[in-house]
Amino acid sequence: MDVLEAIYTRRSVRRFTGEPVSDQDLEAVLKAGFHAPSAHNLQPWDFIVIKNKEKFEQIAKAHTYAKMLPKAEICILLCGDTNKQQMTGFLIEDCSAAMENMLLAAHGIGLGAVWCGLYPVTELTDAMRQICFIPDHIIPVGMMVLGHKGEEKKAAERYDTTKLHYEEW
Ligand SMILES: Cc1cc2nc3c(=O)[nH]c(=O)nc-3n(C[C@H](O)[C@H](O)[C@H](O)COP(=O)(O)O)c2cc1C
Repeated sequence: MDVLEAIYTRRSVRRFTGEPVSDQDLEAVLKAGFHAPSAHNLQPWDFIVIKNKEKFEQIAKAHTYAKMLPKAEICILLCGDTNKQQMTGFLIEDCSAAMENMLLAAHGIGLGAVWCGLYPVTELTDAMRQICFIPDHIIPVGMMVLGHKGEEKKAAERYDTTKLHYEEW
């Protein structure tokens, strides 16, 4: 899929078929995350790949807006390393760029995915710390819920010229 087509047609997918995701597809998605830009090129991210259904249930129990997780195949927990990037703003932006790259990659190869937010909701980051044994210097920034699409969504029209400013506000 052409890059602009992927960007313009990507939508959050919250229903999945249950068909397994191949290791090759998983690697393609992860690799896209690693190719994101980052402040000072610090690449301050780590990725926890979760496939265990019991963990899915634990996470879905803790996260009101991740109830689709048990029906998905893979959860990629995107973490930011505060030892590598001390400025939290940059750390979150870097991880967000990685997350968006992964969402686009998933869509580009025909998979469905949704970004489930964690940071800065302390109850959610704490729950993920506990479930995945995450050390203190690592921030669980967000999760990608991934699988084969069980729903098709139309592209959204969001281009809004009233939000465009030229030269000044
Ligand atoms: C930071 C962030 C957190 C999000 N958290 C959730 C979430 O917890 N659960 C969920 O179903 N969708 C979540 N989403 C997905 C948004 O709801 C979705 O991107 C938005 O409604 C636009 O729809 P689209 O992705 O289909 O274009 C999140 C998106 C972002 C960027």
